[in-house]
Amino acid sequence: MDNQDFATRQIHAGSLKRENFRPLVMPIYQSSTFYFDSVEQGAALFAGEQDGYFYTRIDNPNQRELAARLAQLEGGEGGLVFASGMGAISSMFWSLLSSGDHVIAGKTLYGCTYELLHQGFPRFMIDVDFVDLSQNGMLEQFLRPETKIIYIETPANPNLKIADISYLATTAHSFNPEIKVVVDNTFATPYLQLPLSLGADIVVHSATKYLNGHGDVVAGAVISDSETIKLIAENGLRYFTGSVLGPFECFLISRGLKTLDLRMEKHCANALKVAEFLEQDSRVKKVNFPGLKSHPAYQLAQKQMKLPGAMISFELAGDKEYCASFVNNCKLCRRAVSLGDAETLIQHPASMTHNTYSPEALAEADIAENLLRISVGLESAADIIADLKQALDNCDN
Ligand SMILES: Cc1ncc(COP(=O)(O)O)c(C=O)c1O
Repeated sequence: MDNQDFATRQIHAGSLKRENFRPLVMPIYQSSTFYFDSVEQGAALFAGEQDGYFYTRIDNPNQRELAARLAQLEGGEGGLVFASGMGAISSMFWSLLSSGDHVIAGKTLYGCTYELLHQGFPRFMIDVDFVDLSQNGMLEQFLRPETKIIYIETPANPNLKIADISYLATTAHSFNPEIKVVVDNTFATPYLQLPLSLGADIVVHSATKYLNGHGDVVAGAVISDSETIKLIAENGLRYFTGSVLGPFECFLISRGLKTLDLRMEKHCANALKVAEFLEQDSRVKKVNFPGLKSHPAYQLAQKQMKLPGAMISFELAGDKEYCASFVNNCKLCRRAVSLGDAETLIQHPASMTHNTYSPEALAEADIAENLLRISVGLESAADIIADLKQALDNCDN
């Protein structure tokens, strides 16, 4: 090394062997590639004959550890992590669908998922029916021999409708055991709801939200049986989307996950107080929160979820301008999309997260023009409520 040129030494000098440091926390493997001991070993890794890492789009220790932890928490055989929730969702769909296939999706979906299914899929001759799957008895009417996937959010973004996972899975599988029932578990997290244990086949996540929990990462995840995960890894992730999660983002989510239960308990306790406050205020017309007895699926939520979550949507007894002035009056609650962060976030779905829906589609999906959505944070519940109250009081003036 001493007699090598500066350019060589600045790259190779002092290199330590890469194993056996025994750190408590998984270090960040910020390396796009991994070197081989020999040509034969490289070939064996590529062929899948030997386990190991060779390129971070295919696998990386940070991705592998995070995916395994998420799979364990969701009760799946395997998992994959992605550069965003949409990366996870699109990689999953593109791996499982071909032209001529049929998808049945819930009527209320996150705006970009809706856009993928509504605008994207028809371009590839994939037929989608949007059905109110919160109503038992609806799925049966739309199942066909070409149906490949049933896709739901429960609780749904943004109107908090609840679908009966066990009923939908039983109905779909008795029609055709090959149908994949996919649940977006972003709002609930595995701490509150375990779709795979209720009969679903695949869970997808925007890990941007509660799983990370600190508002500093965009990420996604898919959890399922080993065979499905292998298919999605080798098709959707590897070359359909290449939607790879960086090692640093994996590190942050792994860190956030360690407090998921503690955070969810407080998010949920705060949300119940906020929902109860909103429900008793005469200036609020309607509150959607599965933890209120007034929610049409209160009983189902009690059965299917450990706690009813911390997302609330509500309509004010006023016009569009009234709603806008209410949101603009908020001081503690931040005007922002996304959810599941320590900060309480408030937004207007029709013009923000769900602006991909036409006014007619919004009405069909039960997303009122004036609906507001709150992601209740980890601040003091009393302070969140005081902020909402002052925002309402100042609308009246
Ligand atoms: C329920 C749900 N699923 C999926 C997504 C997409 O996730 P991402 O923004 O991480 O791509 C979101 C984003 O808000 C969401 O709310």
